[in-house]
Amino acid sequence: ASTLAAAAQQSGRYFGTAVAANKLGDSTYVGILNREFDMVTAENEMKMDATEPNQNQFSYGNADRIVNQARGQGKRIRGHALAWHSQQPGWMQNMSGTALRNAMLNHVTQVATYYRGKIYAWDVVNEAFADGNSGGRRDSNLQRTGNDWIEAAFRAARAADPGAKLCYNDYNTDNWSHAKTQGVYRMVQDFKSRGVPIDCVGFQAHFNSGNPVPSNYHTTLQNFAALGVDVQITELDIEGSGNTQAQQYQGVTQACLSVPRCTGITVWGIRDTDSWRASGTPLLFDGSGNKKAAYNSVLNVL
Ligand code: XIL
Repeated sequence: ASTLAAAAQQSGRYFGTAVAANKLGDSTYVGILNREFDMVTAENEMKMDATEPNQNQFSYGNADRIVNQARGQGKRIRGHALAWHSQQPGWMQNMSGTALRNAMLNHVTQVATYYRGKIYAWDVVNEAFADGNSGGRRDSNLQRTGNDWIEAAFRAARAADPGAKLCYNDYNTDNWSHAKTQGVYRMVQDFKSRGVPIDCVGFQAHFNSGNPVPSNYHTTLQNFAALGVDVQITELDIEGSGNTQAQQYQGVTQACLSVPRCTGITVWGIRDTDSWRASGTPLLFDGSGNKKAAYNSVLNVL
């Protein structure tokens, strides 16, 4: 196969990218998007601040631009993200208690209902675990509404969009020996044992020298999959360049391919210049849209 999507499809997987609505007029960007990718995540446009800027007033214009472009090209969509401590609208940031819990659940229900039937997988909850060695939850206004906020969000999402896969998504959960990874694992294990509706775990996979691709990545993905969930690489980018970067991209790709329930890989942007990273060259295409060594290393093993 000669594109990432076609190559991933050979094993029944997808290859996706984050898309920004304000770049859909850039013909180089859209050309690569249409050619190479078969799954799309809105980079910011489906987040809480974008979709509910005022309480109970929903705004889907930019998200719809991405969804309609993708569906028009026969691509599928990952919905990102229904509930998160970050990128909350101002009205929500200082809420607490029952009012916040109900506002969060209403948001999950409204957004998942609006897109019902159009989303392959929702990131229902994003980044709810703490960094460091605690293995516990991140403190946030949502966490302070009660430890059951995550399962409540998943139940609301299932009721609103029963055909979509429901994912928990986080970063720095790639290394099996890290406490954060273990904390998420225990939550998924608990959800599965109690029948809380969860179908998948997303690994953001933002890598750099301080957080390198772990040599045990296959183990992490396999152990989560063994709980009875799909796993997905959801926001892949890797700082660096040249052959070193290409080898790391290849390692992540092989880790996914080695786990039957790893259903696909999404990179967090198209060209290096599209990256959310302030500097560096973490993606598969250079600023001019040329394929990098990392691109070829991924395509060669898919
Ligand atoms: C980032 C976007 O790429 C930026 O444009 C935005 O300013 C901040 O958010 N984890 C996530 C993504 O789940 O939503 C984040 O996206 C990157 C980290």
